[in-house]
Amino acid sequence: MAFYITTPLYYVNDIPHIGHAYCTVMCDILNRYHKLFGEETLMLTGTDEHGQKCEQAASAKGITPQAHCDSMAPNFKKVWDEFNISYDIFFRTTDNFHKESVQKALQDLFDKGEIYEATYEGWYSVSEEIFYTEKEIVDGKSPTGKPVSKISEKNYFFKMSKYQERLIKHINDNPGFIKPESRKNEVLGFLKKDLTDLCISRPKERMGWGIEIPFDKDYVTYVWFDALLNYATGIGYNQKEKSEAFKKWWPVANHVVGKDILTTHAVYWTTMLMALEVPLPKSIFAHGWLLNKSNEKMSKSEGDVINPMDFKDIVDIDPLRYYFARDIHFGNDSPISKDIIFNRLNNELSNNLGNLLSRTTNLITKFYDGKLVKKINTSDETVKKLMALCKDLPELVKKDINDFKPSYAIEHIINVLNECNRYLEETAPWKLAKTDTDAAAEVLYVALEILRICSGLLYPVMPSKVIALYETLGLKEVTWDKLCQFDVLTDGQSISKATPLFPRLQ
Ligand code: MSP
Repeated sequence: MAFYITTPLYYVNDIPHIGHAYCTVMCDILNRYHKLFGEETLMLTGTDEHGQKCEQAASAKGITPQAHCDSMAPNFKKVWDEFNISYDIFFRTTDNFHKESVQKALQDLFDKGEIYEATYEGWYSVSEEIFYTEKEIVDGKSPTGKPVSKISEKNYFFKMSKYQERLIKHINDNPGFIKPESRKNEVLGFLKKDLTDLCISRPKERMGWGIEIPFDKDYVTYVWFDALLNYATGIGYNQKEKSEAFKKWWPVANHVVGKDILTTHAVYWTTMLMALEVPLPKSIFAHGWLLNKSNEKMSKSEGDVINPMDFKDIVDIDPLRYYFARDIHFGNDSPISKDIIFNRLNNELSNNLGNLLSRTTNLITKFYDGKLVKKINTSDETVKKLMALCKDLPELVKKDINDFKPSYAIEHIINVLNECNRYLEETAPWKLAKTDTDAAAEVLYVALEILRICSGLLYPVMPSKVIALYETLGLKEVTWDKLCQFDVLTDGQSISKATPLFPRLQ
């Protein structure tokens, strides 16, 4: 099995913000889970460097667009490193191989009559880089409320409308193609209206920062036409020497995007692929927005976004990753604030997981000289129940991750940790150890096995914290087969006293 996941390519007109970090972290978590399941995985992220926004940002700084992009792209890499993102490909749309592949695709479509020339008259939104027809304009603005200006010019158009019926059929025939279900219905709703053809060029005299159209040197291609192709060119599309890689990864491609850019992916991209005679990706998942205090999308243009690096001063990166995956049902919008984050992390990481770790390891150090006694009382009903829960847990987690539902996967894990803490409360090994060391040792062995399995299943979410926790248990790595087994910790194994991994947040 193989799994290929992509984030959107982020515009380089500004530094990364918390919405970008959210999407990239979620993709990294899903990717790391699939790797843990034993699949071959590939993750692509990167920057969208052409178009008017980038050109404007460069001119505001008085430098060339390329110099601007070269200075901005590393900001994204730096933040992804801080956020423990383990991507395989960092894609930049200004890379030469990409430009050549895009030009090949344009020429191919032009030769096949899929692209034609016409005069465009209508409205244009610079901030969205999208054309609108008269009918779509609401109170002199774009449907999403962005300023628009009227233009009339010769341009090139892609025959998008031709593929409308085929696209509707594909979405209906492949229920998991657009996720979640509510977004799929939105796209189908959008496709009830007649699709127009897509303007895919910009005259250089108005906007020169883009990939030149091979059949008309006075034009560059529309930034979305160039950027969407990255998902395919990044893994070898239109590059002879990489055709095997493309064959391998393309059928397992999953695009994760914010809900605001679902149409460009579910309609523009899919119809472009149809015209290019390339099969469609496996899935497109649209996530929701992180909201500001007024419950609106945090956005750079509104100036209310949080710089992801600002979080570092109040909470470690791994717990923040946990918060993203656990608190926000993937697909939904969610307000983000310090209080909500602290509440979740204190309840589940400090009180639950952290407490279990410190209680068990402290007792092993205090009463058993730091050496584990391997003994399981398999006739005890509670132990039997806990072992059964652990046996089922990995598959439950896997199912939810395969369905792009990480918050549900984590909930299963937290439920088992809760049961384990309840078991400790009932058996009170801190008292029992004083009168019956063997019985207390049995309790602690079961608790530590549960801790090993549950924390191991959280490894994709909090890679650094879980490795630190595993070191306390004398373990080095997390492997799927061991997570599916119950008696992995060995007799006499050294257990160290844990340093607090999840201090309470005030
Ligand atoms: N460059 C295009 C994507 C091209 S993909 C071939 C683009 N870039 S962007 O930088 O403006 O936005 C990238 C992503 O950030 C989008 O998926 C968008 O939904 C996401 N977010 C921007 N603000 C956000 C929040 N407040 N919350 C969550 N994600 C949001 O669009």
